[in-house]
Amino acid sequence: MPRIPEPVIDQVRLSIDIVDVVGDHVALTRRGKSFVGLCPFHDDSTPSLNVSQEKQIYKCFACGAGGNSFTFLRDIENISFIEAVRQLADRAGIALPDAKPADPDQQEVFDQLYRANELAVKYFHHLLTQDEKAADAMAYLKNRGINRDVIDAFSLGYAPDQWDGFLQVATRRGFSPQILERAGLVTPRQTGGGFYDRFRNRITFPIHAATGRPVAFGARALDPNEQAKYINSPETPVYNKSATLYGLWRNRDAIRDAGVALVVEGYMDLIALSQYDIENAVASSGTALTTDQARLLRRYAPKTILIFDGDTAGATAAMRGIGSLFEVGLEVRVVTLPEDHDPDSYVRAHGLDGLLGLTENAAPATDFLMEQFAQRDDLSTIDGKTRTANALAELVGRIKDNALKQFLIKDIAEKIGIDEEILIGIAQTQRRTTRPQNGQPEPESYDTRPRSERELLTFLMQHPETADSVFSQISPENFTNSAYRQIATLIARNRQQKQPIEIAHLINQCNDDRLSRILTHLSLEIGIENPNIDVPIQDYIHKFQLKSLEGEIELIEKQLRQPLSPDDLHATLEKHRLLTAQRKAMAEPK
Ligand code: GTP
Ligand code: MN
Repeated sequence: MPRIPEPVIDQVRLSIDIVDVVGDHVALTRRGKSFVGLCPFHDDSTPSLNVSQEKQIYKCFACGAGGNSFTFLRDIENISFIEAVRQLADRAGIALPDAKPADPDQQEVFDQLYRANELAVKYFHHLLTQDEKAADAMAYLKNRGINRDVIDAFSLGYAPDQWDGFLQVATRRGFSPQILERAGLVTPRQTGGGFYDRFRNRITFPIHAATGRPVAFGARALDPNEQAKYINSPETPVYNKSATLYGLWRNRDAIRDAGVALVVEGYMDLIALSQYDIENAVASSGTALTTDQARLLRRYAPKTILIFDGDTAGATAAMRGIGSLFEVGLEVRVVTLPEDHDPDSYVRAHGLDGLLGLTENAAPATDFLMEQFAQRDDLSTIDGKTRTANALAELVGRIKDNALKQFLIKDIAEKIGIDEEILIGIAQTQRRTTRPQNGQPEPESYDTRPRSERELLTFLMQHPETADSVFSQISPENFTNSAYRQIATLIARNRQQKQPIEIAHLINQCNDDRLSRILTHLSLEIGIENPNIDVPIQDYIHKFQLKSLEGEIELIEKQLRQPLSPDDLHATLEKHRLLTAQRKAMAEPK
């Protein structure tokens, strides 16, 4: 039978909420700390099934069925345990190792990887706290205000300024260099064979998996000339970077109690907060939060507050993280620190009360996002609005919770000053045609000429009831701009089939992201670049026809400059004469 490594199963279990799993099959209602519903495993008439979110188990008080997410899925769908793990892993976005024949040694390998990391934690911590070699490191930490309690609580350590300090200790304890390499603790030498320590002359921060065992390290350089300030363990069989959060294992009870998780960027930030008795925090370790990480957080609290550095990099990281948090339905607020601060320096300068003051007044994520977009773009222009609408629609499009989604759409639409329906339309089109980006506005440009065509289209969107009259005089084929031609065709077709011409509906029909953006752009122009919306429709049509007539004449004049046979020349001249006569008639005031 194929085997899935224990840590991976744990990871899947911790990433999935049993309330969601059972909730897919049974209508659950909250009762106190638990959820109850009709038991699907016997003929139940009173709700006997009890699901505990806290313990992540279910139990039927009538028939005695009970277990965890895996056994529930296995029993309700009549599949194997492994298959249940696979399905839930899929759902959590966790990649499972390929199904291999049973490997009795694999569990042993995992165990050794854990134990190698455990040894490293002890060795580095011992050096830092007991060894002369670590005098500088100790002085550095002291200088940064980190006290001994915190050093112990986080098992901070020191990796010595040697090539093989840890390698020697670990091999003496019976670890093979190959295992140490797989654990990411040593690296093969470039030449001549052999291995050397990955972490040298650095302060070490052990990173714990959800199971509570150390699986990796972050390590800060002591030498300010070192080019990488931090280096981290690579991904290993026991360390999945994108599904791990620094500090979560230690702080999860505090997060649960507080009902809110503070998310900071740095190891040092998390540790400083802890020293000031703020324990409900995690650190993203300088990368954008992933949805796996967001899902982990959701297990402990429904709310998050991002506390980011007051520079552009901090804001950008926050914007990216918000998408992941939204996606799993978490409430998000954001604290932006003053320009020259990070959470570490801020709490040391302003104390616990100073920091709590900021978190209490944290801005809703949408306010923060709008502020960021307003700083990066000019929201009084159509272009700025379009880019912002698109970027925000991308975020909103990721949200699965309908209530949250609707609330945010309303909020954002109001803030940008566009129609809710338009935003919904963009979000839906984006989901179909693009992969998630990072929430950054994308510079977008398209040929907006000719003005007469653009004006006619915006007029049509504003006054759908005039469509019949317009299309009796102008065919969509007459539009020279290909994007406008497609949009006109879409409008004409909808009109013919008695379908609505509302912008949101049109956007839904665009099978092309670019087209839907242009459509949005046009719809935002209504009433702004087109202030004379009361101009009679005939004026638009007139202008349009005049313009296309001019286009045709231009084309013919170009032909006339080419060598032509006498017959062709005659026919072309005749056409030219007709068209210029038409133009003359049109240009004359009626
Ligand atoms: P201090 O500078 O000691 O205060 O650390 P910090 O935690 O405040 O670092 P900073 O705010 O610069 O970066 C935040 C986090 O990003 C760090 O804690 C690391 O996890 C990560 N990080 C920063 N620099 C690097 C780097 O050079 N390489 C890698 N891999 N990660 C880094
Ligand atoms: Mn810092």
